Formats: sequence, structure tokens, C-alpha cells
Amino acid sequence: MNHLIVVAHPAIESFTMALSRAYAGELEALGHTQRTRDLYRMGFDPVLAAHEILPVSTAHPASADVVAAQDEIRWADALTVIYPLWWLSMPAMMKGYVDRVFARGFAYESVNGSVHGLLSGKAAVSITVSGAPLPMLVKSGDWAAVQALQDTHILRAAGFKFLEHLHFDEVAPQLSAEIGDQHLTQVRACARRHFGESATGGRLAS
Ligand SMILES: Cc1cc2nc3c(=O)[nH]c(=O)nc-3n(C[C@H](O)[C@H](O)[C@H](O)COP(=O)(O)O)c2cc1C
Repeated sequence: MNHLIVVAHPAIESFTMALSRAYAGELEALGHTQRTRDLYRMGFDPVLAAHEILPVSTAHPASADVVAAQDEIRWADALTVIYPLWWLSMPAMMKGYVDRVFARGFAYESVNGSVHGLLSGKAAVSITVSGAPLPMLVKSGDWAAVQALQDTHILRAAGFKFLEHLHFDEVAPQLSAEIGDQHLTQVRACARRHFGESATGGRLAS
């Protein structure tokens, strides 16, 4: 399978980036092809331009970087997004990627007010990190909001088969090496769970 991993974190040595490397490495060890798009290091422009709101036409052609990013999603059988929760949402860099790349006519279409996703046949996995404990986020209702807005409103709405939202909570700069290693083991297990020999969830093409 072809995998596109899109990751957003400004610090290369962050836990988020370590998760991305471990997940990508495990996919390759399983014999899959992966492309990681590290939005900060590639200098992705997250700012939606006025002309990009309009339907693509000869007068309003799609931006070259958006076309390239959309081609990568077309190429992929599975998309995995990886980012920390900032203010319970995705970093602006990742949100800008969604705003620009998940454009109308590519990720979704809207007819008479009814929206349908155009990316069916592909799988999606979401991997996030928070400082707060997950039970606290669940109790406050914040976790339901995260799932509704990020997993359902974006990935499921675009037509992806949503396989898992894997979340790592209580991640702080002083995270012990032991816990960090356990988390990296978990993210590798996530790749095997969905895309390993005995997995069925990610095998959409066959
Ligand atoms: C701007 C900013 C906003 C954050 N907002 C939240 C938040 O709303 N809830 C939360 O649990 N953690 C929040 N955090 C903490 C991060 O989610 C994450 O735990 C932390 O960045 C550690 O992961 P890292 O090493 O990959 O950066 C925030 C961090 C930053 C820098």
C-alpha cells in the first residue's frame, strides 16, 4: 500500500516528530511505501488565498503546491495525520493544509446544500498528542469535540474510512525516556494493527 503521512510540529526533536518517524519506519518494515510530508520543514504555506476559494478554472487555476499535495493524496491508499493538540485543535500549519488541500471539487462536493466526500476508497488514521490527561478531556466534553471536528467533520466527511484516532496524553517536555519508548512501541503497533499481515482494516483496494 501507498501511505501519505502528513505531520505538523515546528521542532524536529519533538515527541510528535519522533512518533512520525517511528510510524513511518514501521510501515516501511511492513513492506509498504510511505511518503512523509513534514509541513514545517518543507515550508508549506498554510494561508488560503482569495482565489483558492473559487472553483478551479482557467481564470482561477489551482496553486501548484496544492495540486502537488492533492496528487499525493490521490497516490495514497492511506493518509495518516500526526500533530499535537494546540488549544484542542490542530496547529495552524495543519489547519492551513486542510483549508487549502481539502478543497471543494477534490475532497468534497456540495450539491443543493448536501455535502459528500470524494476521497472514498482510502483509509485514514489520526495520531495526536496532548499535555492534558485524556480522562480529563473526556470528562469535560472536549474529547468529543476533538473527534467531531477533526475526525468526523474533516476525515470522515471527505470520504475516508476512518481506522483509528490514536492519542498520547500527558506528554510534557519532562516525559521520561521509559514512557516515551512505550509510546513509540504503541505507535508502531498501530501501524501493524491496521496495515500488518493479519490486518484487514487498511486493505481497501483488494
Ligand atoms: C500553542 C500550544 C497550545 C497547546 N494547547 C494544548 C491544549 O489545548 N490542550 C492540551 O492538552 N495540550 C496543549 N498543548 C500541549 C501539546 O499538546 C503537547 O502535549 C506538547 O506540545 C508536547 O508534545 P511535543 O513534544 O510533540 O510538542 C499546547 C501546546 C502548545 C505549544
